[in-house]
Amino acid sequence: MPVILAIESSCDETSVAICNNGKITANVIANQTIHQNYGGVIPELASRVHQQNIIPVVHQALGDSGLSKSEVSAVAFTQGPGLLGSLLVGVSFAKSFALALGLPLISVNHMHAHILAHFIEEPRPDFPFLCLTVSGGHTQIVLVKSYFDMQIVGETLDDAAGEAFDKTAKLLNLPYPGGPLIDKYAQQGDGRKYQFGVPQIKDFDYSFSGFKTSILYFIRSKEQEDPDFVAKHLNDICASVQHSIVQILLNKLKLAAKHFGIKEIAIAGGVSANSGLRRELQNVADQLGWNVYIPAFQYCTDNAAMIAIAGHFKYMEGKFTDQRVAPLSRMEF
Ligand code: KG4
Ligand code: ZN
Repeated sequence: MPVILAIESSCDETSVAICNNGKITANVIANQTIHQNYGGVIPELASRVHQQNIIPVVHQALGDSGLSKSEVSAVAFTQGPGLLGSLLVGVSFAKSFALALGLPLISVNHMHAHILAHFIEEPRPDFPFLCLTVSGGHTQIVLVKSYFDMQIVGETLDDAAGEAFDKTAKLLNLPYPGGPLIDKYAQQGDGRKYQFGVPQIKDFDYSFSGFKTSILYFIRSKEQEDPDFVAKHLNDICASVQHSIVQILLNKLKLAAKHFGIKEIAIAGGVSANSGLRRELQNVADQLGWNVYIPAFQYCTDNAAMIAIAGHFKYMEGKFTDQRVAPLSRMEF
């Protein structure tokens, strides 16, 4: 019954989706290309582009669904975590839209939403499951007991996996965001050609800052022998970097799965679009008898469909927020 209009603006995508009675009927994503010139997202520029995009994207999402504003039951939005200025645009728009139409508001945690993206389409994981959430800002292993009962059991102590991809790409003179490009070049390379240090971190936690430094030193020493080393061996370097990051991610996931005795395993977030991670996860699953859940590409990177489905579940439980709500750059999980 409910029609949820959902807004995502935590980083550099302005996205609006519609969830009509649990089904996604629109998911419009406006990407921002302006950051490519700078090697990373510039927060001030991101919020300005969100301001330009938000109204046309809302109109398009309603149009794609064949619905009018008056048919919307509630407005869901990303409250955090993310870039404060970017969040502010989405949160302010959601509040005014809801106020003008007399609609309830639903705040959504972006990291919960990445996980709940698994409930947009079949097959849906059974509870409890473990979700490796790997994005540009986060790397977490989450024990998911229900739609709203989630517990972080491991996380990165410094850089996120997406950052490891993006920062390495920068060292290789590739534009931002470098993750998809490393993935592309890796397909033509040998992932076992070069070895990099594997971080030794306790329990189910991760660390990627030393990994990035070890790649920096590796490139510097190789360039002393041959200044064109990176250009000549780009495919093998990318494949080796990707292989290492995937191994680091999956080793801890295997430990956690064993510890909790769970074979329902999901991945989520932008890095779950990585072809090496998707392939290797499937291999591990075949060996260990896991049921794995890998989101469709459009639901891996930031999108409002995941905010809409999270909003749908919250609506069904009557979990609303009020007009005093504010964006949070960091948000309790
Ligand atoms: O979830 P997301 O869209 O935004 C955040 O919430 O951070 O994740 C973005 C991250 C970026 O670091 C990007 O480089 C990475 O996901 N990414 C990839 C791939 N596609 C996106 N990393 C590796 N391989 C990919 N195919
Ligand atoms: Zn994200």
